[in-house]
Amino acid sequence: MINICSVLEICKNTKVVIELMEKLLSKINNIVKQKFEKCGYDRKYGVVTVSNRPDLSQYQCNGALAAAKKYRKSPIQIANNVIEELNSVDEFEKVFIAGPGFINIVLKDSFLINYINEMCNSPKLGCPQTEKPETIIIDYGGANVAKPLHVGHLRTAIIGETLKRMGKFLGNKVIGDIHMGDWGLQMGMIITEMKKHQGDLPYFDENYTGEYPKEAPFTVDELNEIYPAANRRCKSNEADLEEARNATFELQNGRRGYVALWRHIIDVSVADLKKNYKSLNVSFDLWNGESDSTKYIDKAVDYLKKNNYVQKSEGALVVDVSTENDTYPVPPFMIYKSDGAALYSTTDLATIWGRVEEYDPDDIIYVVDNRQCLHFEQLFRCVRKAKIVKDSLKLEFIGFGTMNGKDGKPYKTREGGVMKLENLISTVKNKVLEKLKENRPDVKEDEMNEIADKVGLSALKYGDLSNQISKNYIFDIDRFCSFEGNTGPYILYTVVRAKSILRKAESEGLKAEGRILEPQSEIERDLMLKLAKFGEVIEGSFEDRTPNRICEYIYDVSNQFNKFYHENKIITEEDQNKKMSWINLTAFTKKVLETCLDILGIEAPERM
Ligand code: ARG
Repeated sequence: MINICSVLEICKNTKVVIELMEKLLSKINNIVKQKFEKCGYDRKYGVVTVSNRPDLSQYQCNGALAAAKKYRKSPIQIANNVIEELNSVDEFEKVFIAGPGFINIVLKDSFLINYINEMCNSPKLGCPQTEKPETIIIDYGGANVAKPLHVGHLRTAIIGETLKRMGKFLGNKVIGDIHMGDWGLQMGMIITEMKKHQGDLPYFDENYTGEYPKEAPFTVDELNEIYPAANRRCKSNEADLEEARNATFELQNGRRGYVALWRHIIDVSVADLKKNYKSLNVSFDLWNGESDSTKYIDKAVDYLKKNNYVQKSEGALVVDVSTENDTYPVPPFMIYKSDGAALYSTTDLATIWGRVEEYDPDDIIYVVDNRQCLHFEQLFRCVRKAKIVKDSLKLEFIGFGTMNGKDGKPYKTREGGVMKLENLISTVKNKVLEKLKENRPDVKEDEMNEIADKVGLSALKYGDLSNQISKNYIFDIDRFCSFEGNTGPYILYTVVRAKSILRKAESEGLKAEGRILEPQSEIERDLMLKLAKFGEVIEGSFEDRTPNRICEYIYDVSNQFNKFYHENKIITEEDQNKKMSWINLTAFTKKVLETCLDILGIEAPERM
């Protein structure tokens, strides 16, 4: 499928950034740009990137090649000019030209180590903070009340949570809203199903004027049985479906008993959902639902009517959102069905109205299945056309791909049914538990369970987030749970290794504090260079909405730290200064990894 949404509404923000601390790469860029300028060339040619030949140098600048065209000189001539200036730069150990005019840069260890120590003492580890914090609403989770969470709800929860954490880390005001499905036909189905079995309850008596019971007339397990039964019945019987539609309509129009029953459904369901999301380490600032938008529906529809944006189409009320340049059909956006009922599109429209009124956000991000792309395209076009939102409001649809089984089809239970999220989580946990028991027969059952919860969740989340959001991926439990390779458990294992080194040091009375010294080896230097990239990675991956970059980064750091660990005997090192520096470097690596993991919504155990 072509993803028409990738081009949709995603405006790049070109905002200025203040740095609590400047990124290492920015520092280097500034130096080189200044030298280009000094030689009479435009600054813009002085762009520096991390070297793609780390065996040759650490950073490189290819600007001489582009500048050559502009200034009608040979690239080598330009590179030579600039190099002459760069030779006297204090921060650089070595600068040299490779090929036709690529400038290569190696930093002085003293410069690198000052930067690393500065990072250690910076509250955000050197990550730049946005100068103009934005108010960003992230709409994710999207659970439907009275239906258990299933694997389809996994990706939105994991991805939305991490985007929220990234945005907050960078200093924005981010509001996570679960936007529960609590206002559609499923509510009417549940109400009529209950009426069939417990019709004598006061909720169904239209003449009842007393108070309704405080206790719900069902448990969450019963509730979870009611919906599938109702759904089956309504699917096979037109009259039952009609009755459910009527009940939905009556609920939406405030029939007292139905509203009271509906409240019970919400309360019981939300309590259960909270438990489930907690086990995923996912939390929301707002537990709003579609129903919370109903207070804005009249306002929004009146506004559309008054300003002539709506028309009737086969009895329904719609807004035409097609344009002349459309290369694919974009159907009208439906406001009311022909029977006058509100639908998914109505509540989404009213939700935007409400969000603008209550929060005046700069950006609203929707993390929803790719398959809802067209709905959001219509919604965004509608609110823009009708000028319900200010032009500067960004509306982003972040559509995610499907989690598939090994057969390449959406992941199912062994029997071919929809897999409950709870069951998926416990399947992964049990897989991890098996391995842990083999490795650590010494650990007690309770602690083992806690460890397995964390490691299992890392397998699931990292397995998901390490893929590009829009792509489908295959849920391969053996690969995801492996303690080796590019997996969550491997990263946790690395953090646990660092923790264990620090525990040993502490038992000798050595607490990690004080300066890290200049690197003693190539491997140690490379570890520092990688750690220094932290700020860039977090900033870039939020800007591009690519959490997979953080996964790549921590995999890289973990590999390098493990090389460093194998190269050095930290705890038995005799030179006390060296030893202390290595302990500090270990603590710093752990801090960088844990901070990244926290942004991904993953936590490392003490041991595993
Ligand atoms: N409840 C919806 C579903 O399960 C997802 C909601 C997504 N958010 C939104 N504002 N429409 O498909």
